[in-house]
Amino acid sequence: MLIRSGLVLCLLLTIFVFASQAWSAHPHDVHDWSEQERQILRSLSLETLGSLPVDPSNAYSADQRAVNLGKKIFFDVKFSGNNKVSCATCHREDMDFTDDLSRAHGMGTTRRRSMPLAGLAYSSWFFWDGRKDSLWSQALGPIESPLEHGISRTLAARLILDNYQDEYEAIFGPLPNFIGSKLPFKARPDADNPEIQAAWNSLPVDQRQSINVIYANVGKSIAAYVRLILPGLSRFDYYLQAVSAGDKKVMAELFSRDEATGLHLFVGRAKCINCHNGPLLSNFDFHNVGVPQPDDPGPDRGRAEGIAVVLQDEFNCLGQYSDAGKRDCAELRFMDNDPAKYLGAFKTPSLRNVARRPPYMHAGQFVSLKEVLRHYRRVRPGGRISPELAHGGLTDEDLIGLEAFLGTLNGPIISP
Ligand code: HEC
Ligand code: HEC
Repeated sequence: MLIRSGLVLCLLLTIFVFASQAWSAHPHDVHDWSEQERQILRSLSLETLGSLPVDPSNAYSADQRAVNLGKKIFFDVKFSGNNKVSCATCHREDMDFTDDLSRAHGMGTTRRRSMPLAGLAYSSWFFWDGRKDSLWSQALGPIESPLEHGISRTLAARLILDNYQDEYEAIFGPLPNFIGSKLPFKARPDADNPEIQAAWNSLPVDQRQSINVIYANVGKSIAAYVRLILPGLSRFDYYLQAVSAGDKKVMAELFSRDEATGLHLFVGRAKCINCHNGPLLSNFDFHNVGVPQPDDPGPDRGRAEGIAVVLQDEFNCLGQYSDAGKRDCAELRFMDNDPAKYLGAFKTPSLRNVARRPPYMHAGQFVSLKEVLRHYRRVRPGGRISPELAHGGLTDEDLIGLEAFLGTLNGPIISP
């Protein structure tokens, strides 16, 4: 599906590139849009997002009981080593489900910036490097990360028994008896820590498997909740309605000159739309856009590392804890798995609400949109840097327009 819509978009883009060249020959009103431009603009409207996808690897994806349980766990600090960290620590409801730090902080400080959560049901890969292929398997990462929640799947299973037994069992069936007994609560697979790994290995295989099932179900509940976090209509979408209706008066009421100029650039000469396309203004694919790497903790290889991790993940779409058939896992099976192409490439973020969530990029390298735009002006395609960065030069005035336009993408966030 995603691949096909990508092709259609490429076709539209090609048509548009020719059209825009013809246009730039004569000056025009900022609220004038050619037929080809209007077609592209329609593809950016939130109203074309389409119905909310159900994740075939999560049989509880659309189960309201799972949504309720997942929401409670999302905000529950008991699922952490210090009783202080929950998903909401770094994905704050009052901050578009992200935070304002350049590197997220839980039990320790992570190497990357937190990410906003609205509209992720439409994405195929998760994390800046795409090392997870579903929202439920994604949720299992932070819980066991020593820098984030810092607990184990074994303790998570026990916390379910102690706090959510009835709700859990109503959805997933009875918890096994052994969870109530004395268990090594640090037990989890951990290649970096022989003691924790040994504790995990000390459990019988069938118990390990039962713990994994409970852990996967925790992820599936959280995912059912996260799936429903969505962006609402922004001033941009209302402007697109006016464009569609051909109503210049309303267009001029909704968008300033700078904002409309910025939108022309965004879909035209600045080529932002090569990657920030579709109703969420992201292709959710991976690109190296030449963002300077922080010295500490050394260069981040991004997607080049995520590829191997997602293929080996026991909780991926093809694994035994997934509810999907092999045919449902096309994204994973036909993933482009050549790491050489993805060195330093990161997931394209959605630009919805971008103006109100600095700092920017995978390690918060830029403190403002001005800095982001100056970077785009500076960076040149070639070598490892994506050839799709093809604006060919931006003036100071262009940057003012682009920044103004990005400000129109703010809208409400809808969550259960
Ligand atoms: C310590 C802060 C922290 C905590 C706690 C945390 N996250 Fe995150 N989250 C991050 C960071 C940082 C990233 C990006 C990490 C990376 O790319 O390596 C991220 C990425 C994500 C993504 C991927 C978004 C995308 O666009 O691909 C999702 C979904 C997510 N987190 C959900 C959760 C859930 C659910 C929980 C609780 C189980 C959680 N997070 C706990 C910091 C945190
Ligand atoms: C080649 C694909 C590509 C093109 C073209 C592109 N971007 Fe990006 N954009 C990305 C990727 C990938 C990131 C994240 C990079 C990272 O963190 O290393 C990003 C990040 C951003 C961010 C920061 C978002 C955040 O949440 O941190 C903004 C703002 C942005 N782009 C705006 C633009 C604008 C404006 C243009 C046009 C001038 C543009 N982009 C062109 C792929 C692209």
